[in-house]
Amino acid sequence: MIADLSLFPLTAEVNSRGHLAIGGCDATELAAEFATPLYVFDELSLRSKCAEFKTEFAKLYPDTMVIYAAKAFINTALARLFNEERVGLDVVSAGELYIAREAGFPLDKVYFHGNNKSAEELKLALEWEVGRVVVDNLYELEMLDRLAGEWGVKPNILLRLSPGVDPHTHKYIATGVIDSKFGFPMTGAGEAVARAASVANLNLIGLHFHIGSLIPEVGPYELAIERVLDLSAGMKKKHGFELKELDIGGGFAVQYTRDAPAPPVATYAQAITARIVSKCRELGLAPPRLIIEPGRAMVGQAGVALYRVGVIKEIPGVRCYVSVDGGMGDNIRPALYGAKYEAVVANKMNEKDAGEVAIAGKFCESGDILVKDVNLPRLTAGDIIAIPVSGAYCLPMASNYNASLRPAVVMVKDGKGRLIQRRETFADLTRCHLT
Ligand code: LLP
Repeated sequence: MIADLSLFPLTAEVNSRGHLAIGGCDATELAAEFATPLYVFDELSLRSKCAEFKTEFAKLYPDTMVIYAAKAFINTALARLFNEERVGLDVVSAGELYIAREAGFPLDKVYFHGNNKSAEELKLALEWEVGRVVVDNLYELEMLDRLAGEWGVKPNILLRLSPGVDPHTHKYIATGVIDSKFGFPMTGAGEAVARAASVANLNLIGLHFHIGSLIPEVGPYELAIERVLDLSAGMKKKHGFELKELDIGGGFAVQYTRDAPAPPVATYAQAITARIVSKCRELGLAPPRLIIEPGRAMVGQAGVALYRVGVIKEIPGVRCYVSVDGGMGDNIRPALYGAKYEAVVANKMNEKDAGEVAIAGKFCESGDILVKDVNLPRLTAGDIIAIPVSGAYCLPMASNYNASLRPAVVMVKDGKGRLIQRRETFADLTRCHLT
């Protein structure tokens, strides 16, 4: 039997022991050495995704800059890797900015987002000289103008627009619709551009939109590009506004399950760049620099979560619950969005499936089910469950619910596993408590 590893990192294989291996490391050995739950990242997959995004866009539209959306998962080791790959960063808080700085990331390649940035965050952005502040609303525009004046600088900014486009994704992660907390709605966008272009202490160089996440089609991007370029052309005529940068956000989908394929990066690249080129030609605009902000698609498939099986509860005629040592504390996505995952048994890769089970977490909620129905070989306590496509939005949304310890993270390459984030300890749990 040949296991289907298409959802796993590029280096995934079944080794001679019939075990899942990633980056040349046997998953069961990683689990034994670093304990579970464990998040394993494949260095080769991460680097090749950076290269794929850069090449697929740049070959069609040379003036493209890829910036990784740090919210999908960042730590200092990852920030260093992205810098080595010459990828910028999208941050959405002073905390993410701090991590980038601690990693020695060049902050001029950082775009600072957020719908409610505080004065402290904006001051930090000015003091640390981040590349761009992506201004979300009028309140922020006025505040940043004032702070920049006080600090004696003139930062480069983009304005975030909400182009009123339905991205056909889960409603919690649709951001560019009219009824959204993010960005200037198109109805008021003209005035916002005029205002931003006229304030004394800010340098408006472009426009941004991010219409949502896990967007399965290119149509919503094309529509949003048209709307924003139409607006830019109008603003050029009226106020002489030059669109130097167009930031189309992230949202590129990844495949989580065998039955839900996602478009390859090349498909997004072709549609997005073609529409920018044709629309700019139609409107007589100079093609702007293109910024893309992939998060999920950069790290999703590179990450695998490993759990150890504990209790197995068979309810005859109803369901078999297989409980593992993690769950909603390290991956809230199934509980929050109804997200679907596949799973394999890392130490039984060549064994035949024995029936359907539910992979349950160990947290005190009935909704703590990682995978509802998955066909797996016969399981016993101690087996290692591997869930693919766990690289994005699991660890950064992890919590200490039930005073659990957030997992360790290992980077694998050429048969070696390197700890890039240690598991929390009991002492971490009480670190901030005062008596
Ligand atoms: N740029 C901006 C301004 C964003 O708000 C986001 C994501 C991205 C880029 C990256 O989007 P991506 O390429 O990763 O789709 N927690 C949710 C996803 C929330 C996405 C929020 N914004 C989940 O687990 O599905």
